[in-house]
Amino acid sequence: MSELNNIALKILKNGKGILAADESTGTMTKRLDSVNVQSTPENRLLFRETLFCAASMSESIGGVILYDETIKQKTSKKKSVPELILNMGSYPGIKVDTGAKVLAGSPDEKITEGLDGLRERLKEYYKLGAKFTKWRGVYNISKKYPSKLSIQSNAHALARYSALVQECNMVPIVEPEVLMDGDHSAKDCFSKTSEVLKKCFEELIFHKVDLKGIILKPNMILAGNKCKDKISNDEVAKLTLECLKNSVPSEVPGIAFLSGGQSEIEATENLNLINKNNNTNFIMSFSYGRALQQSALKFWSNDIQNIEGTQKIFNHRAKMNMLAAQGKWSKDLENQ
Ligand code: G3H
Repeated sequence: MSELNNIALKILKNGKGILAADESTGTMTKRLDSVNVQSTPENRLLFRETLFCAASMSESIGGVILYDETIKQKTSKKKSVPELILNMGSYPGIKVDTGAKVLAGSPDEKITEGLDGLRERLKEYYKLGAKFTKWRGVYNISKKYPSKLSIQSNAHALARYSALVQECNMVPIVEPEVLMDGDHSAKDCFSKTSEVLKKCFEELIFHKVDLKGIILKPNMILAGNKCKDKISNDEVAKLTLECLKNSVPSEVPGIAFLSGGQSEIEATENLNLINKNNNTNFIMSFSYGRALQQSALKFWSNDIQNIEGTQKIFNHRAKMNMLAAQGKWSKDLENQ
């Protein structure tokens, strides 16, 4: 088994998933503003360190995606953040794209940037302890979007990124996110996501990326948040499985979904149903940002020194998702 395949499997083994704590300073500031906490480097670290020291880090979280600021910070015990995460039994990872910018030629769409100087930055992150990385491509969805240009250019960037990351002995998380915003149907989400995924894998293969050494981080198949015809959770699971089965090569060891604006419970319930009906060989787990942190952040904002209370909430969410990643979650367990 290759080293990268081994890392990917360790991150996702036995229902473990990924904590996406890689909000850029701008996004984290929005999150902290929403709960009336001042966004300082110290407060951003305090919230994150509170989660990284929680018991669920050893039980349910196989990897943590960090942002550039956090991977370079020292904890209250004067350790580096990657050291803390490793000591808790999880792997540190790093978001390496520099954000989604206006796509020249199709200004309503985005292209993710960050390839310039990436090889050098990767070497630095590797030395800091990163074992895996993340790059997110975003796709608007409507009758005319995503355009062929957006699908092609983002797939190309994801593949160039992945090849460079593997060259540096880390596992690339490949995240093509078809957004939930809009009034599109689940059927549209299915067809556009399938097209996006197929193009991504075409490019990954062309760029000689070892598919056994990546983790795919896709969206689930959902109706747009403004669509009147919502579908059931069972239908979400069915369509998501069908889409991935048809579009993802079987060599890929694991799939870790993003939550993308679903509520915490919705994201857990959908993941559970996906695993209950999983008729593929892929591990299906989570790489949630908001769906793992929302309640914990809200609680913490009332008393930012209440470490234990905040961890209790985070531990519960992490455990529920670990159960869902094995198809063992239930409403009763949720409410216990
Ligand atoms: O890139 C997006 C994050 O890693 C996942 O965040 O679960 O809140 O969509 P989310």
